[in-house]
Amino acid sequence: MKYPITRPRRLRSKKGLRDMVAETSLSTDDLILPIFVNEAISEKKPAEGLEGHFYYPPESSDLADFILSNLELGIKGFLVFGITGKKDFHGSRAYSREGPVYRAVRYIRDNIGSEPVIFTDLCICNYTSHGHCGLPVEKNGVKIIDNDSTLEVYSKIAVIHAEAGADFVAPSGMMDGQVMAIRNALDSSGFSNVGIMAYSAKYASALYGPFRSVMESEPKFGDRSSYQMDPRNIGEALKEVQLDIEEGADIIMVKPALFYLDVIRMVREAFPYVPLAAYNVSGEYMMIKTSADKGFLDLNRAILEATLAIKRAGANLIITYFAPLIAELIKNR
Ligand code: PBG
Ligand code: ZN
Repeated sequence: MKYPITRPRRLRSKKGLRDMVAETSLSTDDLILPIFVNEAISEKKPAEGLEGHFYYPPESSDLADFILSNLELGIKGFLVFGITGKKDFHGSRAYSREGPVYRAVRYIRDNIGSEPVIFTDLCICNYTSHGHCGLPVEKNGVKIIDNDSTLEVYSKIAVIHAEAGADFVAPSGMMDGQVMAIRNALDSSGFSNVGIMAYSAKYASALYGPFRSVMESEPKFGDRSSYQMDPRNIGEALKEVQLDIEEGADIIMVKPALFYLDVIRMVREAFPYVPLAAYNVSGEYMMIKTSADKGFLDLNRAILEATLAIKRAGANLIITYFAPLIAELIKNR
C-alpha cells in the first residue's frame, strides 16, 4: 500500500496521538546516576571539568541530601565512584574499610536505608600510583599490565563493597576473567545475593577525558589499549559480552553509548534476555553541554533525543550525568 492511500503524516497530526504511537519511551526507571565521593575533602566541592557535578565527602549530609533529592525525582539507581588522596601500587584504598566507597555506601545504608539501588564502580586506576586499571609488571624490560594478579585485587574490592552494602559491583577494568573472579569471591564470602553489572564491551575511547580529570585517573605511562577494546571492532564486543554472561554477569554494558549505538543494537539482538546498560560517558555529556552553552543547540531537546537514541538502540539502563535533568524533563513533559 502506498501514497495516496497511505499517508504516514496522519499519525503525526497531534501531540496526544504522537505520544500514543511512540515506539520508545524514557522513564526514570531507566536511569543510573554516577556519584563521586572523595575522601580527601570535608565539604561538597564542584567536580571541575564535569560541569554541574560535585565531589561529596563520604560521610556528609550533602551526600545524603543529593541521593534523597534524586530518589524524590524518581531515580532509583546510583553508581558510586571513589576518590582518594592516598594512592599506592596496588590501590589498597580501594579495598580498605577506611576508603571512600566503603564509607560512603555504609553511610548511605545507615542514613537512607535500603531504597537506593547502589552500584559501585570496581577498578583501581583512580587508586593506583601508576593510574592503570591493572597492576604493571616488567617483562623483558617492557611494562605490561598483568591480568591475573589484578584479579586478586578486584576480588578483595568486591567483597569490601558488598560488605559496605552495595547491591551490585560494576567491574570496569577490562581484565579477562574479572567477572568470574569477582563472582567466586562474592559467593565464597557469603555475598551470593550481590550482583555484577559488567562493563563488558568497554572501548579505548577519547570520550573519557573529563572523567579522568575529575578522578585524577590518567595513566602515568602508556595508555589503556592493551585492555580496553579497539574502536574498530564490533564482533569482539559480542565475544566479551558472551564471556561475561557465562562468567555470571547479571547486567552487561556497552560503553561509551552514543558513538557505539551499533554495538548496543547488536548486543541487544544477540542477547535479548539479559539486561543491557549503556554508559553515556563524560565526553558525550560535555559535548552536548558545551554546544548548548554556546547556543548551538537546545539543551533539553538534545538531552532527550540523545538518551532516547540509546534506549531505541536497545539499552534498558542508561548511566548518565544528565539523569537529574532528564527526570525533571520527564516530570514536566
Ligand atoms: C575507569 C573508568 C572510566 C570510566 C568509568 N570508569 C574510564 C577510563 O578512564 O578508562 C569512564 C566514565 C566517563 O567517562 O564518564 N575504569
Ligand atoms: Zn580503571
